[in-house]
Amino acid sequence: MNRRLGVLISGRGSNLQSLIDAISSGRLNATIAVVISNLEGAGGLERARAAGIESMVVSHRGWPSRDDYDRALARELRARDVGLVCLAGFMRIVGGPLIDAFPNAILNVHPALLPSFPGVDAQRQAIDHGVKVSGVTVHLVTGELDAGPIVLQRAVAVLGDDTRETLSSRILEQEHLAYPEAVGIVLNGGWKVEGRRFVRL
Ligand code: GRF
Repeated sequence: MNRRLGVLISGRGSNLQSLIDAISSGRLNATIAVVISNLEGAGGLERARAAGIESMVVSHRGWPSRDDYDRALARELRARDVGLVCLAGFMRIVGGPLIDAFPNAILNVHPALLPSFPGVDAQRQAIDHGVKVSGVTVHLVTGELDAGPIVLQRAVAVLGDDTRETLSSRILEQEHLAYPEAVGIVLNGGWKVEGRRFVRL
């Protein structure tokens, strides 16, 4: 697979940073071709700049339709010869035109053990539900929210006195390990999607 990554962010970009660090330390053989944020002022843009990576804002506002926005993202990514798109705290639902442009080539990191607790505030959902184990899931992105084939998961114990903040920060540590590892697995090939399963050959 083409090892040029496009990373989409909306916020602080700590998962972006974990990819930057994994690449610079040689743990991940890849190049970040571009970082795109839908929001001005996303902290991750500064991280990209500091690492000398091209970054840009493509706002989700002002497009005639959601599909037009997705097409604009696909155009920017294609123009930079991106092979794998990494959603890293990108707070938009990715739609048809982008998924069609990158079939089985968009990854997302989610702070829960899917299919439990999809959508927003997964750590709060886990605490409110009273589960004793949660974690992180890296999955391929399909048209269904947080439901694509699972590449990798890591479990994190939920403690009796956990708050949203304490659980989030322990899950985040695992996200930072899991995401670069999953990107490496996908880039290295030797896998296929069978039904809803990501199968390593
Ligand atoms: C992470 O918890 C990620 O799992 C979720 O959004 C958060 C983004 O954090 N999708 P960051 O911007 O990567 O620091």
